[in-house]
Amino acid sequence: MQKLIIQGGKSLHGEVTISGAKNAVLPLLCAALLTKESLKINNVPVLRDITTMLSLLKQMGTDIIEPYSSEVVLSASQLTHPVAPYEMVKTMRAAILVLGPLLARAGEATISLPGGCAIGLRPVDQHIKGLQAMGAEISIKHGYIHATAKKLRGARIIFDIVTVTGTENLMMAATLAEGTTILENVAREPEIVDLAHCLNAMGANIQGAGTDIIAIEGVSSLHSAEHTVMPDRIETGTFLVAATAAGGEIYLKNTDAHLLDAVLDKLVEAGAQIDSAENWIHLKMPTKPKSVNLRTAPYPAFPTDMQAQFMSLNCIADGTAIITETIFENRLMHVQELKRMNANIEVEGNAAIICGIPKLDGAHVMATDLRASASLVIAGLIAQGETVIDRIYHLDRGYENIEGKLSALGAQIRRAH
Ligand code: EPU
Repeated sequence: MQKLIIQGGKSLHGEVTISGAKNAVLPLLCAALLTKESLKINNVPVLRDITTMLSLLKQMGTDIIEPYSSEVVLSASQLTHPVAPYEMVKTMRAAILVLGPLLARAGEATISLPGGCAIGLRPVDQHIKGLQAMGAEISIKHGYIHATAKKLRGARIIFDIVTVTGTENLMMAATLAEGTTILENVAREPEIVDLAHCLNAMGANIQGAGTDIIAIEGVSSLHSAEHTVMPDRIETGTFLVAATAAGGEIYLKNTDAHLLDAVLDKLVEAGAQIDSAENWIHLKMPTKPKSVNLRTAPYPAFPTDMQAQFMSLNCIADGTAIITETIFENRLMHVQELKRMNANIEVEGNAAIICGIPKLDGAHVMATDLRASASLVIAGLIAQGETVIDRIYHLDRGYENIEGKLSALGAQIRRAH
């Protein structure tokens, strides 16, 4: 099994090019199922989750061409097998995103229930409830969701809970439904806006993406389009936290500061000096960081996907901080690993109290999920001595060439088998 080996203690200096956003590309790839014509997507990152999604779409009958590593052209002219098997869904929960498009286009879908995952229970009841309100017949048998619909029809759906992929699934399904769908209490994440732009370029009629009410006027078919994926705001934030924790000066290209206002505010509070323009962010960290309290919540508040990275920053910051996780029930697993590196953290329910110490100790640690892995990489960069991180397949799901990008900034990090 591959691992990362990091010699801590180097500050970070230089430039990094940010990749396209994983959580934007995953629904965009599924949007290709909505049309017989081709969809070209640019700025696609090289990630394990993307490979898994492409394999899933291929086995459903989608033709896929990848002219360059960052471009994908998908043509779902015929959907021969509208099924997402357990083997694929268990490695990537975002496979649930094929449910809405398959129902809308093929009138049927058989999708394995995702089941629980490392960070929480993560049910999909809101996806199912919404599609039922649009006229789908849905049953769950032997661990699979079986869904059929002759023709989906527009409906007014009020989500009980704000869900990102739930909003995306219903928004995609509604593009081909008969009449108007109104989705209320929806997620406002920038990835939803990116998806709406792409769907509108394919001929859909969606208004309100980025607010908490989205209106979709169904159309009879969608057509060919080309779309460039937005920058990855979580990859951007991860590099910014790394440099704030390790010190130094970095310049991030192909990104957008407006996508992560809540994160930048916290970094400034920690002592970072940040300036930015349309597609770059510059960060300078001249001093030791100060502790920052934070509470995760749906966009535009502080993202749960950046919580673990700030935990590592707080481990060596001046002062005591409280981090509260409100989105997922079990997203503090990195704490046990950070404690093996001598961090001073106490967990009380969904909150962690972190007392900053001068230095972490390098240790052998294990990645438990994607963002927890990123927190351990940051911890390794600021620790004294060597840190070895096992199970980095989690990291490869969502960070493109992280060791290459960090090495270019002067970090001593390498992959070993
Ligand atoms: N929830 C329900 N019922 C549902 C759907 C969600 O109770 O039908 C609950 C979840 O259990 C959770 C909360 O609602 O407690 C929010 O979950 P959400 O559905 O918004 O999460 P998601 O759509 O499954 C996406 C990202 C996650 C990110 C979350 C929150 C993708 C592919 N995944 O997941 O990304 O953490 O939104 O922002 O977009 C990651 O990249 O590391 C990652 C986990």
